[in-house]
Amino acid sequence: MVSTASLKALFEAEFGQSPLFFRSPARINLIGEHTDYNEGFVLPAGIDLYCTIAIAPSGSNECTLVACDLEERVSFDAHADIKSEAFWANYILGVRRAFRKRGINLPGVNAVIRSEVPVGAGLSSSAALESVFAYAFNELFSCGLSKIELTKIAQESENEFIGLQCGIMDMFASIHAQENKAIKLDCRSLSFDYIPLALGQNKLLLFDTMVKHELASSEYNTRREECNAVVSCLQNLGHPVQSLRGVDMTMLSAIQSNINPVLFKRAKYVVEENSRLNSFAEAVSKNDWHEAGTILYQSHEGLKNEYEVSCTELDMLVDAVRGMDGVWGARMMGGGFGGCTLNLVEESKVDAIVDQVNGLYLKSFGLKPKHYIAGTCNGASAF
Ligand code: GLA
Repeated sequence: MVSTASLKALFEAEFGQSPLFFRSPARINLIGEHTDYNEGFVLPAGIDLYCTIAIAPSGSNECTLVACDLEERVSFDAHADIKSEAFWANYILGVRRAFRKRGINLPGVNAVIRSEVPVGAGLSSSAALESVFAYAFNELFSCGLSKIELTKIAQESENEFIGLQCGIMDMFASIHAQENKAIKLDCRSLSFDYIPLALGQNKLLLFDTMVKHELASSEYNTRREECNAVVSCLQNLGHPVQSLRGVDMTMLSAIQSNINPVLFKRAKYVVEENSRLNSFAEAVSKNDWHEAGTILYQSHEGLKNEYEVSCTELDMLVDAVRGMDGVWGARMMGGGFGGCTLNLVEESKVDAIVDQVNGLYLKSFGLKPKHYIAGTCNGASAF
């Protein structure tokens, strides 16, 4: 974890004042992939890789942000509504804009940012950045917004300012996470339950492909359109559905001949993934690791063959662990086309699994994948 002392020293040297400290974590998603924007269910958790900031009001209309990992410094007017040339600063400008849309004109701030969340690994580094600033602004200026509203602010920054049509899962997890719990979130009503994540002798092991293919954001938006197209088709046929959440396999099978086969398999994946989430949560609650792992593999197959958001590197990592001693199951995680796989494994076998996977991946792609043992943690907070 980033040391508070070093962040404090940096902030004081830079701005000559004392800061407050906030942090917000990366997220994993156990299951329920590409279901959030279809108003379905997701099962994310916060993991102990944080985006941490030292921040204080600047006492003027000026905002100055220092990204110490990138050694970049950006200044802008507190009321600016234009994009910065520094890509990372736009996530914060977008958050400020979302506050402004709610009638809250945030004063200027000074901030130093340090993030442990790897960029491009599918662990939601941008959601952690947006979430920590949304949370900090709310506290610093006593805006009185709820966590749900802060989550919506973070998502709005991404959707409206950055221009990525992501769902709400990432920022929801970064803000609401609780240690040793996963969040079962209903993305239609935004109601949620914390599910105990008691994994017994097991661990969640992540392997990072170290790639992020270009296709990621364009295909993400295409999947959203494909899902919406199925909903429109159902509506035209008289079904009163608002999203794929309201669709089941009987309804879908009945319109199979009316829709393009590609759209059919996209929708089938979403409908099945929603029901897999419930089966997975049940298996975990019964300590049935074999069943939980089998469901993870099924989710991967759906993402690979029906939703088609996987890639060679992710498939290789999942295939590599299949049948390996100590592995219950694995799947790609997040938006796809790169990033991490999530593996449910026996703790005592972690080292052997990592060694074998490293060797196989190196042989196939000339790269050593990074790995993380995902420890769950609390969401956005001051500390
Ligand atoms: C990305 C998006 C999320 C979600 C996942 C897929 O992480 O930001 O909103 O759609 O992909 O489950």
